[in-house]
Order: sequence, then structure tokens, then C-alpha cells
Amino acid sequence: MMTESQSDALVLFGATGDLAFKKIFPALQAMLKRGHLTVPVIGVAKANRHVAELRDRVRESLKQFGGGVDEAAFARLVQLLRFVDGDYREDEIFIRLRRELGSARRPLYYLAIPPSMFRTVVEGLGKSGCAQGARVVVEKPFGRDLASAQALNRTLHSVFDESAIFRIDHYLGKESIQNLLYFRFANSFLEPIWNREYVECVQITMAEQFGVSGRGSFYEEAGALRDVVQNHLLQVVANLAMEPPLSGTGEALRDERIKVFKRMRPLTPDDVLRGQFRGYRNEPGVASDSRVETFASLRIHLDSWRWAGVPFFIRAGKQLPVTATEVFVALKRPPQNVFGETGGGARNYVRFRLGPDRVAIAIGAQAKVPGEKMIGRETELFVSHQRGDEMEAYERLIGDAMVGDASLFARQDGVEASWRVVDQILTASTPVYGYEPGTWGPGESQALLGPFGGWQSPKEHQ
Ligand code: BG6
Repeated sequence: MMTESQSDALVLFGATGDLAFKKIFPALQAMLKRGHLTVPVIGVAKANRHVAELRDRVRESLKQFGGGVDEAAFARLVQLLRFVDGDYREDEIFIRLRRELGSARRPLYYLAIPPSMFRTVVEGLGKSGCAQGARVVVEKPFGRDLASAQALNRTLHSVFDESAIFRIDHYLGKESIQNLLYFRFANSFLEPIWNREYVECVQITMAEQFGVSGRGSFYEEAGALRDVVQNHLLQVVANLAMEPPLSGTGEALRDERIKVFKRMRPLTPDDVLRGQFRGYRNEPGVASDSRVETFASLRIHLDSWRWAGVPFFIRAGKQLPVTATEVFVALKRPPQNVFGETGGGARNYVRFRLGPDRVAIAIGAQAKVPGEKMIGRETELFVSHQRGDEMEAYERLIGDAMVGDASLFARQDGVEASWRVVDQILTASTPVYGYEPGTWGPGESQALLGPFGGWQSPKEHQ
């Protein structure tokens, strides 16, 4: 049964784009399989195509990214699917959209389009009367920097009420990222060591084995810092570093995350190292002299009682040796080297594998090698280990937006606080070091860690 507040149409701007192909259509198939999608789905794009071609593209998307085509769900989707083709800059497309919406009174508009088009589309929706009673999901990056995020917010507010705006950061909808919070605050054993007394440093690696795969022109507008650091990875830091929230839901969680952003010292050029994989400049849509980074490593300081002096290192890059996102929380060594081991024995650690295929939480410890000598070897205690086949982030978030639940969406004050962290370095002309595809980025990135040892590469999983 649909309630009053439930969206009664889903309109997908950018229906022929990469995001729709990789994430949104697979999410819609999953929703259909659970019986969670019953409203018309209207694709909008400037593609010179017909609805039949859009259907073929949806089928291909499900084949490649949806775990295969579920024929029953696909048939249902085809019944729900409509297509409006045209130029976002012209009034006519919104008139046709209005017609296609028919009796829908609470549509959800999903803006899966380049950030430079947000304003045009939002204003078009406003002028045409399509925005009335509607909700809007805006893809990240939300703006290009602090000033443009504020301007975009004003544009959105000129047409939509705050309660109708959903700023998506799909990392917030990921099971493994929610589990960071759950694991921290549903257990008591971690809290006593989760602070500057025991933690030496934290490393977060988001490695992707692929390049920009046809998204050159989007990536030229973004780069690694805007694409995944300012949003996804700072959200991971927030979940790792936040104080216990007043409750486990809604605004309470958003409040605590935002406090972490506010405690982050704004990054300076010394805290950041940029890289670009060789061959990037030959990608379609990429300038032949592009200085856009496809790799970034950073050192973040949190000025808080809990974390003062504990660096949070982040590195993210395309064309790295593996695709894996992992958090490595290195604990301080024991105060004495009781067994006289070379190098003072290994550090204990807590490791969170956040995806994509594997999700794991493990604790790294030393255990004695059987035999006469008191010699240890590193061993991992698996606290939890599962395949990442849970509800996908996009499925969860689209479902939430359709019922008006914003708990897992970014809030404007958080968006602004996180832009404040990176703002200075976006325009700083720091060097962009080249690296070979299939390597861990520029060698220079090691120096950023200083006395904190080397980067920990995500663990191979059996
Ligand atoms: C997107 C970025 O937001 O996140 C992509 O634009 C990146 O560049 C993707 O590949 C990673 O998401 P996930 O869920 O595959 O880790």
C-alpha cells in the first residue's frame, strides 16, 4: 500500500549515463525483486534514442552489474519504464516530462548527471511546475568547492524545501560502513582502546584496479579529491572517529559525523600528494595536458580530545593493483619488547575490509610459533567475515528517498564542513606525480607517512 508521503514516480535524469548503467538500474532490479518498486520509472536524457534502446541498455546493465537479468523483474521494469529524450537546457523537455508524469503528485527526481548540469535541471523543474510536491536526489560531488556547494544549495532551496532534498553519498548506505558504527558502539571491548592512548595511526585505502572507464569528461571536472575523498572517504573517517551518538538513527548520527568534520584541520599542501596514472591523458574526454589527479594520498589531523596526535591517512586511486577498500587501525606497540624480537615485534591492528566483494573485520595479533623459542608470527582473529551480498547501497538509498527518510543522506552543514577541510588544497598547485598503471601510485606517497611505517595494502583474501 502506498502512503501519501511515498513517491509515486521515479524520474532518472542521466538515464543513459554511467551511474544509471552501473548502479541505478541494478538497484531498481533488486527493488523489483523485493516488490519495492511499483511506480513509473521515467528516464530522461539527451541521447537521441527511443525507449526500446533504453530497454536494451537496461538489460545490458543488469547483465553486467546486476548479477544477471532476472526476467520477471525485467519484464516488470519494462512495463514501468518511459523515456523523455531532449536537451535539459530547453523548456520543452520539462513540458514533456510533466505530461509523462500524468497524475503523479510526489515524483522523486534523481539527478545522475554531471554537476555542471544540476542548476539547469533544478531551475527547469521549478519553472515548469514539475517540482511541486516532489523530492530530489542530488549525486555527489555536491558542488566543486565550498562556495559552489553553497550556491548549489541556494539554487535547490529556490525550488525545493530542505525536507525534499536528498544529497546522496552512497557510502553512507553501505552495509560495511554502517557496520563500522555498529561494531564500535554495540560492543564494549573496542571503546577503551579507541583513542590516542592506544591507536598509533589510521590508514584508509580505496584502491580501484580500473581507470576512468569512459568517464573522462566527468573525471576532468572532479579528480580523486572531489570524486571520492571529500565525500566517501571523509564519511568513513567520521564513522571511525565519531563520539557515541545520542541514538543510532537519523539526525543523531548526522550530528556526530558533522562534529568530526568540524574537528578536521583544513588540509594544507604539505598534507596531500597527488598522482596521475600514465595514459590518463589519452582517455576520451581528457585534456592532453590535464593535471587532474587520479590518485591522492592525504594526512588528516583531528583536533579532538580523543584523537589529538593520531594521523588519519587516506589514499585513493584508479589503476591500482587491486579493487578493495580497507581501513587499517594500527595500535601502538607493547611498552616493552619482552621477547627481544627484531624490530620490536609487530603492531596489533584492527582491519575493516569494506568491500567490494568481501566484507571483513579482523584483529591482527602476535601468536607464538610452536617450538622452543619464544618467537611470534602475525595472526588474524576474524571477528566477522562475510561476502558482500547484502542489500546494495543504491537500493537502500533510493528506497529511503522515496519514503522521505534522509537519515543516510548528507546534510548541508556536513557537506560544507567537509568542503572546508579540502578547499585550500583544491586550488593549490601542488605537483602531480605520474605513476604506472597497476602500481600503488607515485612512490612519493610513502613519504607522507613519515615515522608511521609504510602503507598497508589491503589483505589478500582466501
Ligand atoms: C563513485 C565514484 O562515487 O564511487 C567512482 O564516482 C568510484 O569513481 C565509485 O569508482 C566507487 O564506489 P563503490 O561502491 O564501487 O566503492
